[in-house]
Amino acid sequence: MSLISAEDKRWLQQLLGERVRFDELMRRHTTFRIGGPADAYAMPAGADELSLLLQGANRRGLPLTVVGNGSNLLVLDGGIRGIVINLAPHMRAVRSVAADQAGAIMVTAQAGLPLPALCRLALANGWNGMNFALGIPGCVGGAIYMNAGSADGCMADVVREVTLLDRRAQRLTLPAGNITWDYRQAPWPQGSIILEGKFQLQAADKNHLKRKARQWVMTRKRRQPAAASAGCFFKNPSPQRPAGRLIDEAGLKGKRIGQAEVSGQHANFILNRGGASAGDVIALVGLIETTVAERFGIELEPEVVILGEERHAKKSF
Ligand code: EPU
Repeated sequence: MSLISAEDKRWLQQLLGERVRFDELMRRHTTFRIGGPADAYAMPAGADELSLLLQGANRRGLPLTVVGNGSNLLVLDGGIRGIVINLAPHMRAVRSVAADQAGAIMVTAQAGLPLPALCRLALANGWNGMNFALGIPGCVGGAIYMNAGSADGCMADVVREVTLLDRRAQRLTLPAGNITWDYRQAPWPQGSIILEGKFQLQAADKNHLKRKARQWVMTRKRRQPAAASAGCFFKNPSPQRPAGRLIDEAGLKGKRIGQAEVSGQHANFILNRGGASAGDVIALVGLIETTVAERFGIELEPEVVILGEERHAKKSF
């Protein structure tokens, strides 16, 4: 049941106008095309509006969940209670570009900017540093939040500063040296929302960068499936034992539960073959985890962020 009262609804509509929707199906906002309704789905126009939203939600005791462009999310079938905030529609500016004393290019981008847009900007200007992120579909905030990366690098390598709103809606700027980055995670202050990141890039040969980018895109097309998914589902237990290879060697490629299927192309991708429920995916994930644990004694851990509630069985009277 929605946690948003009629009074909360009026407050949200007054604050956000068109930029709030109610009972919004999250499957419309995830690359997996899966997910039940968010009680409220808010798309703030800027940092000031976001700050008011955070303060109001705190006063009313409404839970907040921040999502990016939904490319690394599994939202459960019962949906998300409280307010879901998405910064991607309106907080996606490149706020400044400047050279520092050593000649590096410092680019400040808002959390909602899609990472591919930042990669394109870097390529077009011949700035080296973002090529590791080619093909990562997330937005700047989400990618910083989970230290997104590939075999060629991760956000920790290029982010020099992160500005966030803490849970009391105070602005806080953290230099990268104060952030304890880890594999696909970092310990952000609880309840904080990333507003923007400052990236340190280097001037490089434009054509060389573009050539490398083209090669990478071709490799990715060959290796990774195009169907609806959330990208790699599990973290790699170690570089020597990537999850994709373990799942493949466990013989699970093509395994299907309901409409959820282990990709035949890359075994760490779970595909939505059309109308899959989160329940289908969770059942398949359980099967993969058990099979890999029995076969190799390794516990896989999801890399995808799982949000929301399972669907409750309807009561019959
Ligand atoms: N492999 C198999 N069978 C498979 C899939 C992979 O044997 O079905 C083997 C490959 O042959 C290779 C190894 O496993 O030897 C690693 O595979 P790959 O090069 O595809 O890289 P990955 O470790 O599976 C990581 C990131 C991807 C990123 C790629 C490319 C993680 C969990 N995944 O994949 O990120 O695109 O490198 O750089 O770190 C994502 O985060 O959603 C994602 C897809």
